[in-house]
Amino acid sequence: MVVLSMDVCKRPRIIISAAVTIDGRIATKAGDSKISSDIDMVRLHKLRASIDAILVGRNTMMHDDPLLTVRYTTGKNPIRIILDPCGEIPSNSQILTTSSAVPTILVLTNNASVKDQRRLADFNVKIIHTGTERINLKWLVTELFEKYNIKTVLVEGGGRTNWSFIKEDIFDEIILTVSPHIAGDGINLIHGDGFAQIHEGPSLHLKSAQTQGDEIVLHYTRHTTPHSDDELNCHKI
Ligand SMILES: NC(=O)c1ccc[n+]([C@@H]2O[C@H](COP(=O)([O-])OP(=O)(O)OC[C@H]3O[C@@H](n4cnc5c(N)ncnc54)[C@H](OP(=O)(O)O)[C@@H]3O)[C@@H](O)[C@H]2O)c1
Repeated sequence: MVVLSMDVCKRPRIIISAAVTIDGRIATKAGDSKISSDIDMVRLHKLRASIDAILVGRNTMMHDDPLLTVRYTTGKNPIRIILDPCGEIPSNSQILTTSSAVPTILVLTNNASVKDQRRLADFNVKIIHTGTERINLKWLVTELFEKYNIKTVLVEGGGRTNWSFIKEDIFDEIILTVSPHIAGDGINLIHGDGFAQIHEGPSLHLKSAQTQGDEIVLHYTRHTTPHSDDELNCHKI
């Protein structure tokens, strides 16, 4: 039996996933993020079918109007989680119009207006109110684990959301598809203040590197990531 000490909190295993150009962008400056191949979409959708939840930030939801479902293969749709501090998700978005069929969680802060909260209450979505002006990701992931029984989360960007998880040191793996394109200026894979010194950021272990046509899929893990499924359910945060 595993005995947990008081300073150990439970949270899901968190995997950051993205397709990047060879210069490390996940989108051009105009917001075009169609970077990877159809083969990679099959790989990504198999990964989606294997996890409990998929999470994206507000800008990705607004720019891409994603479905965040499993379509390139067969399998169960993960729960969709949208960081939407102001409750801006459009009523005609693909996420809301499919919310009766695909489980969906919206994460709102005090910045969401009462009008938007009422509008969103008409949809078949769970709403997590953080009660604050910024989303506290450490609190959120513990809530997802303990109240929603979510054991694995795939963070699918965008760059600011990825940076938030890196900055807060709440991630376990990064899976990147490097595609043979160049964007120049654009959205970085990790888009934020960054670290002043390399040693201040996390250092990772390359678990695998697989070529896929002209692409390469890189799978990095934390040096400290435990390997048994039981251990993966418990992380110090
Ligand atoms: N190639 C790929 O694999 C891939 C994957 C996903 C997305 N993308 C691209 O990435 C671009 C969007 O990326 P982005 O960096 O602009 O935005 P983003 O990460 O999608 O969304 C960032 C926004 O989420 C909200 N947010 C609230 N609390 C947050 C928290 N604690 N942590 C993080 N975010 C929080 C913030 O909204 P407020 O500012 O309103 O507070 C923040 O500005 C799009 O062009 C999309 O196409 C590419």
